[in-house]
Amino acid sequence: MGKVGYSHEFRSIEAGKEHPMAHLLESMFGEIGQMGELTWLLSIAQNLKLSKTAAEFDQLTMLMADRRAAAEDNNKGDILQHFLDDMRSEKSIAFTNKNILYSDAALVLTGATDTIGAVLAHLSYQLANHPHYQDLLHVQLQKAYGKTIPDEFTNQDLSKIHLLDALINETMPTTPDRQPPEGITVDGVHIPGGVAVRVPAHALHRSEQFYTEPAQFRPERWLDDNKVYVKNAEAFIPFLIGPNKCVGKRMTMSVLRLVMAYTVYNYTWEKAPGEDGKRIRTESKDNLILMAGPFEAVFLPR
Ligand code: HEM
Repeated sequence: MGKVGYSHEFRSIEAGKEHPMAHLLESMFGEIGQMGELTWLLSIAQNLKLSKTAAEFDQLTMLMADRRAAAEDNNKGDILQHFLDDMRSEKSIAFTNKNILYSDAALVLTGATDTIGAVLAHLSYQLANHPHYQDLLHVQLQKAYGKTIPDEFTNQDLSKIHLLDALINETMPTTPDRQPPEGITVDGVHIPGGVAVRVPAHALHRSEQFYTEPAQFRPERWLDDNKVYVKNAEAFIPFLIGPNKCVGKRMTMSVLRLVMAYTVYNYTWEKAPGEDGKRIRTESKDNLILMAGPFEAVFLPR
């Protein structure tokens, strides 16, 4: 997201260690997770400088936004280019002051980093448990490899591999909420405006009312035209729906497709010796964004 958002490289892979940004992000979500529905407390804590982590994360994203804004050439094709173009235009639509720039610059990192990380972690775990899906996918990937660009996968070719999207769908997390100003009536009970109404997607996505065998890892539920495993597709809302749904949905799908495609094409993997998969199931945390628990695997080149 450093590169896509700000044309900035965090260089964690080259350095062989996590950039402090990732640590700050996770610690901050840990704090938000403890606040439950009282996330407004975070703003107070930030303003009073009570939360060192949140303050450090703010400083970092403001610094990155300022550095990016100082670039002589703004045509970098990154997300900040659009924010800055709007802020500098005579009739800016959204970025009417610098605080909006800072807050949305931070949102780029918070919305996009751990969400994708959590899906990748859980998908790696599920495919280690169900290795035949690695092999099934590998057969289909061989046909897509180099089809449009020599020696590469493209998102367009990968989007036609239904099994790949089915595996991703079967692993999607989310925890959205809404505060409808006019209130909302649910099953005859009126909830007044301004009250946070949370759709517990974790429960929704595991409800027998909407899915057959919801607790089982069944990617075929998304391939099945007879809708045996999906009783009501409207109950699937990982990116939410409506005007405030996730703006990163298409990007998420292309990142997940590409990462999974290159990984399955080049490697097979299994649980590491001593790994029983319990920690990722029991130590994953609902920190506003799902934080995956640890899972160790051994990867072997194909
Ligand atoms: C597995 C990956 C992802 C999931 C499950 C996910 C889920 C969501 C959900 C449920 C919302 C709505 C939150 C709400 O209204 O309360 C949202 C909003 C948002 N997401 Fe994502 N997201 C993912 C990845 C991304 C990525 C990669 C980006 C950036 C490119 C991104 C950027 C955003 C932004 C900016 C919003 C706020 C949109 C708005 O308020 O108009 N997300 N996301």
